Amino acid sequence: MSNVAHLTITRHQPYFDHMESSYEPLKDSFTRTFGEGGRLVVVRSPGRVNLIGEHTDYNDGFVFPMAIQPQVSFVCRGREDGLVRVTSTAFPDEMVEFSIQTAITKAQPTWANYVRGVASELKKAGIPLIGMDVQLSNTLPVGGGLSSSAAIEVGTALCFLALAGLEMDVARLALLCQQAEHNFADVPCGIMDQMIVSSARQGHATLYDCRQGTRVYVPLNSQELRVVIVNTMVKHELTGSEYADRRNQCQMGVAHFARANPKIKALRDVSLAQLESAKGELSDLIYRRCRHVVSENLRTTEAATALSNHQYERAGALMVQSHNSLRDDYEVSVPELDYLVEQAMQIKGVYGARMTGGGFGGCIVALVQPRSVDELTTQLEQKYQDRFGIQPTAFVTTATAGASRVE
Ligand code: GLA
Repeated sequence: MSNVAHLTITRHQPYFDHMESSYEPLKDSFTRTFGEGGRLVVVRSPGRVNLIGEHTDYNDGFVFPMAIQPQVSFVCRGREDGLVRVTSTAFPDEMVEFSIQTAITKAQPTWANYVRGVASELKKAGIPLIGMDVQLSNTLPVGGGLSSSAAIEVGTALCFLALAGLEMDVARLALLCQQAEHNFADVPCGIMDQMIVSSARQGHATLYDCRQGTRVYVPLNSQELRVVIVNTMVKHELTGSEYADRRNQCQMGVAHFARANPKIKALRDVSLAQLESAKGELSDLIYRRCRHVVSENLRTTEAATALSNHQYERAGALMVQSHNSLRDDYEVSVPELDYLVEQAMQIKGVYGARMTGGGFGGCIVALVQPRSVDELTTQLEQKYQDRFGIQPTAFVTTATAGASRVE
């Protein structure tokens, strides 16, 4: 277990959107690093939190995420010589350099592989790129389960596209960035993170059908509801193989069902009744993995409907069921996440809470009545600190728009 870099956000305050003027310091920093002149392009790319629908995306299922206010910001300027020079305010002494005119491969430092990966995938897709100088600045916790990697990928792609004078459909952009993550970060992720970072709508969560590629935008009423994120500040160093293991276990479940019915291509196609009747034929482990995914799909569509009907208690109850299923059946939670969820649910005005993202650390997300936010964040910070000796970070966020060019 190790602590991860954390947000410098005032604890209970809403996280305010970057005003356009707040990009000036980053532009100044860019100019100090790369010199004056030329036209600067500014891009913002948000993180995401998933309200429900975990480990369903790679099973052709449903997810229900939203984009959040912490983000990665980019300032970039085109270069005619095909060079890409990358700096990050998080690593001020490092400048990464590669050329789009030669083969692009993974290299140290690993944070820049997201940029290399996106350049490589854009090239592979036949997109005419030019080189660039680019500086990144990040208010997302790295390794905190809020998709800082997808934010870097999608933002990088928008920089390259903007400098080449091009635009790309958000679905294609997401797929291309997912490939970058597979090939350059070695994470066999689903499509959720890149999809929501590229296509989120301000003020809404998105019910996304990972098979059909359709989106339903569900408005979140900020008079009635707040979304609170609490970071455990821990990341158990298991995630790499554990994530791929879960995918393989799901595939083993699919293989079983497909033997009797070849139309079954993914756990999306399996009903709870089918699963129950196959219980004796599957190992307990595969049965439980399948049960999580099959039941999570049902919870996710129901929760989206409940939220759009302002049935917050119901949506919250489904979130808690989701957490329990991730803890007991899918086994991707950790004591720190379980503790935060349990404690959050003790507080009046908290509709629901669950771990969010891949698991093994990272954050919980809670749906809360506006007047209970302070009580929730204060209590959780204190109790978590007492129990684990770690100061968690809690913040409120609104749902933001997907990545975009700002200037
Ligand atoms: C990570 C992956 C996503 C998704 C979640 C679990 O965030 O990047 O594709 O699988 O885990 O829901």
